[in-house]
Amino acid sequence: MVRETVLTPADFIAPLFVIDGKGAPQPIKSMPGVSRLNIKDLVKECRALHKLGVPAVALFPKLAARYKDADGTRALDENGLVLRAVQAVKFAVPELTVITDVALDPYTNHGHDGVLTTDGDDVANDRTVAILSEMAVLQAQAGVDIVAPSDMMDGRVAAIREALDEAGQERTAIMAYSAKFNSAFYGPFRDAVGSASAAGTRLLSKATYQLDPANRRQALNEAALDEDEGADFIMVKPAGAYLDIIRDVREQTGKPVAAYQVSGEYAQIQAAAKLGWLDLEQCRDESLLAIKRAGADMILTYFAKDMAKKLG
Ligand code: PBG
Repeated sequence: MVRETVLTPADFIAPLFVIDGKGAPQPIKSMPGVSRLNIKDLVKECRALHKLGVPAVALFPKLAARYKDADGTRALDENGLVLRAVQAVKFAVPELTVITDVALDPYTNHGHDGVLTTDGDDVANDRTVAILSEMAVLQAQAGVDIVAPSDMMDGRVAAIREALDEAGQERTAIMAYSAKFNSAFYGPFRDAVGSASAAGTRLLSKATYQLDPANRRQALNEAALDEDEGADFIMVKPAGAYLDIIRDVREQTGKPVAAYQVSGEYAQIQAAAKLGWLDLEQCRDESLLAIKRAGADMILTYFAKDMAKKLG
């Protein structure tokens, strides 16, 4: 009766990894219970999630290394993996909201979210924004409901909004990764999409475009900018170590706030549970409850299906 925060299956967005071909699911070592799926299996998983009451999925492609290059050319392939995945899912489960990632890291052979400057020591912001805008239009034309720029280039939300509108895709919404920190908790995800291995022995640092974990005011500035530029959802990422930011953003904006419980947050709970040091279900539930209590309206989490099963 006095409980202030309650989780429901409708709170969750399931991130899913998709691969080409007809092969078996590929388990991701650092993310127990998560596999990359071919399109057919992905559709099955989406049907199951929809049945369980999960309202949305976020798709991430894993390309073979031979398809990656410095400019992330395959991001603009009109028959690209993600576009085919969106079409298949929207055809099979039209009521399920589909979100696609707008960033170049699954497509570049250096693992960065954008193309690089000629001396290679930073992302080329404006050239990247132009590519991302085209990418978002392709995704919208494939039928995606929400595009989610996770790249952290400056000015990309306004550019994407303009490109979508010009292409007649006014109804495609934008979920902006607004307060996205330069976090070490993305490690397992970089295994999942192969951006870490694409970077080879170089340290994959995104410190020039992702936020400094020390900065709270700057995170709020970024959120305000994205909102001004036309973002329909504001995201904070990671979630667990940034609950203060979720609360701050919740108080600053009237837009829906999303929080991303990232791969490393998932992995640490799984790993400790495997060692018998933590209780998996209790820690999972507590971590998600805290994110909602902090002010998130929706949570991207690799626990989405398990939570929906439990709560449904
Ligand atoms: C990059 C992207 C990342 C994640 C989602 N999109 C990682 C990165 O910035 O390298 C991380 C998600 C997770 O760790 O679960 N565009």
